[in-house]
Amino acid sequence: MSERNMNGRTPLLEAQGICKYFGGLKAVENVDMKIYAGDIFGIIGPNGAGKTTFFNMCTGNFQPTKGKIFFDGEEITGMSPETVAQKHIARTFQNLQIFKFMTVLENVKIGCHIKTRSNLADAILHTRAYREDERYTTEKSLEILNRIGLSSYRDTLAGNLSYGTQRKVEIARAMALEPKILLLDEPAAGMNPLETRSLMEFIQSLNADGYTIAVIEHDMKFVMNSCNRILVLNFGQKILEGTPTEVKNNPEVQSAYFGKGMVAGEAIQ
Ligand SMILES: Nc1ncnc2c1ncn2[C@@H]1O[C@H](COP(=O)(O)OP(=O)(O)OP(=O)(O)O)[C@@H](O)[C@H]1O
Ligand SMILES: [Mg+2]
Repeated sequence: MSERNMNGRTPLLEAQGICKYFGGLKAVENVDMKIYAGDIFGIIGPNGAGKTTFFNMCTGNFQPTKGKIFFDGEEITGMSPETVAQKHIARTFQNLQIFKFMTVLENVKIGCHIKTRSNLADAILHTRAYREDERYTTEKSLEILNRIGLSSYRDTLAGNLSYGTQRKVEIARAMALEPKILLLDEPAAGMNPLETRSLMEFIQSLNADGYTIAVIEHDMKFVMNSCNRILVLNFGQKILEGTPTEVKNNPEVQSAYFGKGMVAGEAIQ
């Protein structure tokens, strides 16, 4: 998919020479990356390799020390997270960020609000604009909950759900943004094997529906079997960006990543 995509097409998300330094620590150093529409793009690397920092720069949560980020050909370097979100770049966080004392439906509705026009005064006065927005966000959120298989939990407080289900609520909220690209930071963290498998199938089905996905994930079986392109980071630097086969056969990747108790061949079986 990617080879054909790359043929003369503008990447959907592109990093050029991106760097992030925290004092003397080079958390990300001179990383280039190109994600094309339709990709499931994997980002892998050992703990502390700079994966989350890299995402944070793509979504405006961190300003890069150097380098540029482009979205669909437009430079977005230095934009705020809100502005980036308005461009339909949605994300989830490694440390789950949902509102535990709100219902599942309310959590997802928050994701819709970037699209609505009514303000606080409208809400207090219950104006027509507010009622229309409410109807729109409720309908849309229910549609998403249905799609992700969580509609039976719509009125449950998010904090009362299992950790794995809470992670799905966060993905549902990201989907409410109508993402052109969905960035998932270790979506399976804290999930049991059954939940992980169901999540991975869900991510694949989203991709089949046309969503472009970038995913940081330690589950090598998923990465190797589902991602069409993979970026490998180690100590903030890019080792390789390539197909699963290229990643599997690269000796540097093997020693940096697979050397730690897992060989690449195992991951692909
Ligand atoms: N806000 C920050 N201030 C200072 N150092 C930071 C900050 N955020 C990350 N770092 C450091 O940058 C490096 C990369 O961290 P990052 O969280 O991006 O790694 P990661 O690849 O996501 O790791 P993990 O697999 O454990 O999630 C680490 O050494 C980390 O301690
Ligand atoms: Mg991380």
